[in-house]
Amino acid sequence: MSEKINDIFSSIAYVYDFMGHFFTLGIDGIWRKMAAEEAIADNNAYRILDIATGTGSIAIDISIKAKRAKKRVEIIAVDFNPDMLKIAENKIKKKKINNISFKTEDAMNLDEPGCAYDVVTAGFLLRNIDDAEIFAEEVKRILKKNGKFILLEMGKPQDGLLAAFFKLYFLFIRLIGSLINKNAYRWLTYSILSFDRNKMVDILSGKGFKDLKIKNLPLHIGFLITGVKE
Ligand SMILES: C[S@@+](CC[C@H](N)C(=O)[O-])C[C@H]1O[C@@H](n2cnc3c(N)ncnc32)[C@H](O)[C@@H]1O
Repeated sequence: MSEKINDIFSSIAYVYDFMGHFFTLGIDGIWRKMAAEEAIADNNAYRILDIATGTGSIAIDISIKAKRAKKRVEIIAVDFNPDMLKIAENKIKKKKINNISFKTEDAMNLDEPGCAYDVVTAGFLLRNIDDAEIFAEEVKRILKKNGKFILLEMGKPQDGLLAAFFKLYFLFIRLIGSLINKNAYRWLTYSILSFDRNKMVDILSGKGFKDLKIKNLPLHIGFLITGVKE
């Protein structure tokens, strides 16, 4: 487990949701809803693991969308940071959601049985993990055959103009973020600029996942990496 990352999320847990919406003008909410939509697109019943659930937003979006679509879902939502999980638990209590269970677990060594899930989701985790190979192996281990993963992430847009715009915009994020926690928002912008989406797909392909796709989301700085376990 990365102490540095755990400490960062403990220090910003109380402002995490607000600052995410503020810096993206609410677009992060649309991205999560698109990830949730993708998670329940195919069948009528699901067992879903949301890894690095943080304050629980993706798990909550899945639960709400499944209810509207009259689909049955059971969601286990895990994160290694208890401060983020505490906020997630309060959110589901307020919303009276009862099909999400939260657990403290490390994505690098999940305390979950093999071949147990139809879908795995993870939002904004990839930039924060020590070893993407180990994570990909864990996802493969816990998914059922033909199970699907949806990884929501942020990385430098591939369009040069947009990339230049975000490089400038990140100076603003660092400035405002330094009023809360300088290291946290430096890490956020640094990790986004250095994340390589194609390398991640190569790693997943090397682990034998099929139907690998990268789908750009509004603003092109957010995207989904999806794939299926053979
Ligand atoms: C940027 S937040 C994303 C939270 C949530 N998925 C969302 O959409 O807002 C990243 C989360 O990953 C968690 N995290 C980072 N590394 C982890 C690991 N190795 N195991 C479990 N959780 C981890 C952090 O504690 C944090 O809650």
